[in-house]
Amino acid sequence: MTAKSEKFIHIKDAMKKGHGLVHIRGWCYRARGNSALRFIVARDVTEIIQCVVEKSVVSPADWEDALKTDVEASFELSGEIVEDKRAPTGYEIKVKEFKLIGESVGWPIQKDQSTELLADNKHLWLRSRYTTSILKIRSTVFGAIDEYFRKEGFYEYQSPIFQATQAEGGSTLFSVNYFGRPVYLAQTWQLYAEPAIFSLEKIYCIAPSFRAEKSKTSRHLTEYWHAEMEVAWATFKDIQDYGEGLIKHVVKRVLEHNLEELKILNRDLKILEKVRDEPFIRITYTEALAILKEKANMEIEWGKDLRTFEEDELSKINGHFTIVTEYPKVVKAFYMKETESNPLTVNGCDFVAPECYGEIIGGSERESDLEKIKERLKAQGEDPENYNFYLDTRRYGSVPHGGFGMGVERLISWICRLENIKDAIPFPRTMLRVNP
Ligand code: 4AD
Ligand code: MG
Repeated sequence: MTAKSEKFIHIKDAMKKGHGLVHIRGWCYRARGNSALRFIVARDVTEIIQCVVEKSVVSPADWEDALKTDVEASFELSGEIVEDKRAPTGYEIKVKEFKLIGESVGWPIQKDQSTELLADNKHLWLRSRYTTSILKIRSTVFGAIDEYFRKEGFYEYQSPIFQATQAEGGSTLFSVNYFGRPVYLAQTWQLYAEPAIFSLEKIYCIAPSFRAEKSKTSRHLTEYWHAEMEVAWATFKDIQDYGEGLIKHVVKRVLEHNLEELKILNRDLKILEKVRDEPFIRITYTEALAILKEKANMEIEWGKDLRTFEEDELSKINGHFTIVTEYPKVVKAFYMKETESNPLTVNGCDFVAPECYGEIIGGSERESDLEKIKERLKAQGEDPENYNFYLDTRRYGSVPHGGFGMGVERLISWICRLENIKDAIPFPRTMLRVNP
């Protein structure tokens, strides 16, 4: 992982080298010292390392630069790297040349800051080891999603963000003034993905979705990244298998690439390994109600959606990913297929994460009966005329099919065991925050 310029190497590579002259550059993680000696902990993308600058060793100009180097100032240095058990990461650089590149005066983030201040300074807080670790894991997650779908023979396909109709309920639509008439920001790609399976058969995308969520929970963003897939000829079981395969693959890659980051985040690996290795639990909604009654003494009326705390209880009882299937028709979207054996339920599935992280995937087999879709749209107060382009998918060569959507930040939040989903995305957007 050598930096582009030949002379400079990353801190981790310098530590691998372990002795001799090294040239590194980065930012000041912290600094202390006196009138003759300065300890500057350098940080780059790979690691941190303690660097010792002695007034009697470096030139007067270099010493001046070292004195001016405060938290988050940038610099280049050359020096002798040595093993030192007392240093924070086991190595130390005895500095010979030091050059300040960019000063940092009055860095606004101190120890033990409030979450509000950190959020106001998210553009700076990105540099913290905490956020950097999450961003590295986030990068692995995005790469692994692509990798999974491509290895399974999917095409990457894009859908519009400006859309004329809702798909996931009118209450969370963001309306935009589109040359004088309202259009909506995409809640999902789905209505524009289904037409494309008649061409590409197996498709996926990772794109932003928008939900005008008025809830201030630790699970909701108004702008989130949505990994979605849609498959022609798929059974309901196929959809669940792909969802399980996707999560397992992502977790596997994170465990391969991000052990150091998981350690910085104090993440317990056992549950990640379990999710990677053991089959997910699959139960119907009706079975979920029975389990919640028996094990948690929770009485839920059949036909009501599972709320957050009920999902959390299920998550605690099962201690693993649980795929809940066959929800009551009345609580699910208009496009979900009626279960063959029971007209009151649909072949929809929610993937409920362990450790109380809620729903990470929502998916379904799609209704193929044109009249049923029209009726369900009407029941939701929608005019089927507005969905004509979508309904054409059922008029011309309809096939059994299905798909799902995965909230990428929800997955990252669970993988890293974050307290709030806001930390899973660089610049979170919520009801209360669009800045910075
Ligand atoms: O369950 P949802 O609403 O399903 C759909 O949008 C389907 N059309 C997907 C499909 O079949 N193609 O959303 C899917 C997932 C949820 O399971 C959740 O993980 C995530 O999107 N999600 C959110 N993530 C963060 N903030 C929000 N406000 C979210 N709303 C949904
Ligand atoms: Mg859902």
